[in-house]
Parts: sequence; C-alpha cells; structure tokens
Amino acid sequence: MLGEFVYSNPTRLHFGRKALDGLAQELRNYGKNILLVYGGGSIKKSGIYDSIVAILKAEGKNITELPGVMSNPTSEKLIEGAKLARENNIDLILAVGGGSVCDYSKAVSVSAYYDGDPWDKYFLRMEEPECKIIPVGCVLTMVGTGSEMNGGSVITNHAQKLKIGHVFGDNVYPKFSILNPEYTFTVPQYQMVAGCFDIMCHILEQYLSGTDDNTSDYISEGLMKSLVASSRIAVKNPTDYEARSNIMWTATWALNTLIAKGKTTDWEVHMIGQAVGAYTNATHGMTLSAVTLAYYRHILNDGLKRFARFAVNVWGVNPEGKSDMELAEAGLKALESWMREIGVVMSLKELGVTPEMYEGIASATFLLEGGYRKLTHEEVIEILKESM
Ligand code: NZQ
Ligand code: ZN
Repeated sequence: MLGEFVYSNPTRLHFGRKALDGLAQELRNYGKNILLVYGGGSIKKSGIYDSIVAILKAEGKNITELPGVMSNPTSEKLIEGAKLARENNIDLILAVGGGSVCDYSKAVSVSAYYDGDPWDKYFLRMEEPECKIIPVGCVLTMVGTGSEMNGGSVITNHAQKLKIGHVFGDNVYPKFSILNPEYTFTVPQYQMVAGCFDIMCHILEQYLSGTDDNTSDYISEGLMKSLVASSRIAVKNPTDYEARSNIMWTATWALNTLIAKGKTTDWEVHMIGQAVGAYTNATHGMTLSAVTLAYYRHILNDGLKRFARFAVNVWGVNPEGKSDMELAEAGLKALESWMREIGVVMSLKELGVTPEMYEGIASATFLLEGGYRKLTHEEVIEILKESM
C-alpha cells in the first residue's frame, strides 16, 4: 500500500547525443562566475573538457577550475573546494565527471558559506544546510550512482575511517544534468561493471523491503530486466549506444527517489559497502558486489516471498513445483551468475580487506531497520568473513 508521500524532482535532464547543446541555455540562468569541477583528467583525454570550456567562454563566463576530485572524495578536499567557491564568489558549480565529482560538488555547494567544519555538520551530525547554497549543474561521464538526479553526497574521512552519505533535499539536487551516453564509452571496463552493479544494488535496496503490492516494485522489476539485458551487451561491446543509453537512463531512475515511494527501503548493503570503502578506498560498486550475496543469504528467510518473486519476475525462473525457498535460492543463483558474467569483484580479499579490519568495518557499519531484518554487529562480522 502506498500511503502518504510527496514526490517532486527539480533536476532538468538533457539526454542523448546532442545533450550538451542544452548547456548554453542553462548557463544563462546563472551569474558569470563558474566553478568547473572535475576529476583526475579523463575529461581532458576525451575532449569533453575542451567542448565545455568553449561553451563557457562563448557565454562570457569566468572560469575557476577545481580539478583533482578523487574517487570517494575526501573531507579535506571538501574544505579546499568550499574555500575556493567562496573566495571566487561562485554563481554556479559545474560538475563534470562521475558520481564522485557530482557528490563532491553538492557538498561544496552547502559548505562554501558555512563557517564551521562541513564534515561534522553534514556527515556526523546529519544537519541540514541553513546557509546560502550555490546551485550545481552536472555533465555526467560515468554511470551508476544516480547522483545526477538526487540529493546524495558521499564523503570519506580517512582519519576517522568513515565514509558517510548525506541525502540532501530538493534545494541541493543538481538544477540540471547533461546525459550523453557517448561520454561513457571511454569509462574503463572495471568502472563500467562496478557502475552496473551499483545500479542493481540501488534497485534491490529498495525492492527488497516490505511485503505489500506496490507499483514501485513493478517499476523496479522492469529497470532490473533492462539493466541485465543492456549490461550483457555493453561488456562485449562498450560502444553499443543502445545498451549504454539504456544503462544511463536506468541508473538515473534507480536512484532519483521514484522507486522508493511507498517503501521502507533497506540500504544495508550500502552501509557495509561504505564501511569497507572507508577501510580500503575501493571502488564503490565493487564494495557492494563483494558483500551482496552473503548479506542476502542472511536475510533470505526473512524476506522469502519477495526473494521468490525476484527469481520469477526478474530472472524468469519457472515457479512450477518449487517451494518459495527453492525459488529464492534460484534467484540468488541467477544474480550470482550475472555478476560473474559481467565480471564484478566477488570477494573482499580482492579489495584488500584483512581479518584485522573486521571489527573496525563492522563498527563503522550503520545498522538500519528498513529491510527484512536489522542485523547485529556480530552478523556483520559473519557477513564480512563469508565475503572473503
Ligand atoms: O577522475 P577521472 O579521471 O575523471 O576518472 C574517473 C574515475 O577514476 C573515471 N571516469 C569517469 N568518467 C570517465 C572516466 N574514465 C574515462 N572516461 C570517462 N568518461 O571513472 C573513475 C570513477 O569515477 P567516480 O566518479 O569515482 O565513480 P562513480 O560514478 O561510481 O562515483 C562513486 C562515488 O559516488 C558515491 C560513492 O560512494 C562514491 O564515493 N555514491 C553516490 C551516491 C549518490 N549520490 O546518491 C549513491 C551511491 O550509492 C554512491 O554511494
Ligand atoms: Zn551505490
């Protein structure tokens, strides 16, 4: 049953091969001072940087560059960006990159005019911004997180060994996002499949909660089927436009809040994955793939009917003559074989986790109640062991 909710999404999307044509018009809504935020240099190699700078110049903008945003952006880098944005009186933050660059730009947008430590305020104390917020626009180059159309911002504090996401409200969502699937052709295969698994995990974290009949779950099933079909094509042919465009669109809808409507939502895989990330700095999607199967085996019996439905409706398992448990197990097997087929990381050992880290990772894992069962600290340790 859907119950009460408010739905709105303020991000305007420009999608397709000509999506960048929409940038000039968007820029006219903002002042002259643009903070151009990007990562380690992939946009320079691909030529996206040159195209964007040319548009910014043609629109008469002053450009302040903020390069070097790392995967899993850090609290130190956030302070650097906030200072730069304030000193240059920035009117628009233009994020060009993947989830890390988009997330980081949102964090900068709420931190530039906050006088204290943004890590403490937004990520430890989970407070909302009261200061001026600088608008953000995105040009997406790597697909998976959904950051292009949501308020999520995940920051890592290496000194405290914590990786924490804050889901901000409408006022922090990107005002616009440019989504050209061709930009994703150059993403390394490892990152591409990590992104595909991130998408699957986002959908599952929402789908695997509740026992009611809910439209959101039917949408989720469609998104998962599209993702499985397109990812199979994209791993063999990364420049297949149809597959890459479907993956891009699926990623956006997987985490722009639509399929969470009427759901309690789980997010425990992400909680464990983020704690693993804090200890290893591993690629986000791979921290999820490494722990997913062990976690789902722990809660299989608690969410039995939904796991059985997942097997039938997403993987096409024939239900005839099978118990719910047999179906649920067949669904997990199908998920596992797709994971192996696209080539995601299947063990924490591969990400550099060692037994000495178990206790720390488990302590850094937030235990949530929205899924089929709240885990205990000891169970998280068991899951980590089973994921090695
Ligand atoms: O830094 P550059 O040189 O640009 O290279 C990047 C980076 O090394 C590269 N890349 C991106 N686009 C490329 C490309 N290489 C070649 N061609 C291109 N077109 O890919 C690497 C990974 O990029 P990154 O942005 O780190 O990946 P992703 O999009 O997976 O973002 C990961 C971050 O997002 C957070 C994660 O925790 C992690 O910190 N998440 C954000 C969420 C949200 N906002 O809602 C939800 C997610 O669950 C996730 O937690
Ligand atoms: Zn994710």
